[in-house]
Amino acid sequence: SVMAELAGISDMAKALKEKLGVKDVVIVPGDSDQTFWVQRDMGRATVARLKRELSKDHNTIAVTGGTTMASVAAMMSPDKENRPMTFVPARGGLGETLELQANTVCSRMASRAQSDYHLLHIPDMVSTETFVKMVEEPSIKNVLQMIKDASIVVHGIGEAKTMAKRRRASTALLEQLEDEQAVAEAFGYYFDRDGNIVHRVKTVGLQLDDLKKVEHVVVVAGGHSKAEAINAYVKQSPNIILITDEGAATTILKG
Ligand code: BG6
Repeated sequence: SVMAELAGISDMAKALKEKLGVKDVVIVPGDSDQTFWVQRDMGRATVARLKRELSKDHNTIAVTGGTTMASVAAMMSPDKENRPMTFVPARGGLGETLELQANTVCSRMASRAQSDYHLLHIPDMVSTETFVKMVEEPSIKNVLQMIKDASIVVHGIGEAKTMAKRRRASTALLEQLEDEQAVAEAFGYYFDRDGNIVHRVKTVGLQLDDLKKVEHVVVVAGGHSKAEAINAYVKQSPNIILITDEGAATTILKG
């Protein structure tokens, strides 16, 4: 029955929370590697969980890109209590196609929430000289400050090789990631199975160290193929709320 299934899922969430040592775990039924709608259900669960953390006066929410975050954006809705939200992209370009960029996710999320947003207009490939000048531009500087002050960060986790290939990494980088046994990726950082950083994409915005000062970090990742990546990532960032699916949860609990 549905009730029995839900009870099973909440027991599983409790077990996973204990195993990973994270703040909270929400699990949706199914495996997003197998069924597309499961990713949307994770999106819906993320929106609901996120709203529990909104404060009355002001919320700056930094978001990353990716297909999972695009599903969160698709399920976003205005806040019934009208608590003010401002969305910003967490980091500058990571080499994703437009559809999957943080800027795109950020503007969609804000439009569905009927709230404000600011984008980071920095191209991926500029000379160091131009880059140094650009980050001094008042409009960019202002957004970078908002990112640093974000009260909530929502981001995805990817499997290292999949992410490097999707971002058209060089053969040299792919080999390096292989040598260093990278298994996880999050906003441009690559990690080995113990959660050690093995590589990072240099770009402006949120850095891994900044996460420690963020009040609420909501991580959304599911599908059995991401089990190892999730496991590795939380080793170095346990202070998170994890939204995942049964596919990933079962695989992590088995391992
Ligand atoms: C990226 C995020 O855009 O999406 C990463 O910056 C994450 O943190 C990745 O690893 C995951 O992508 P997807 O498509 O699997 O949700």
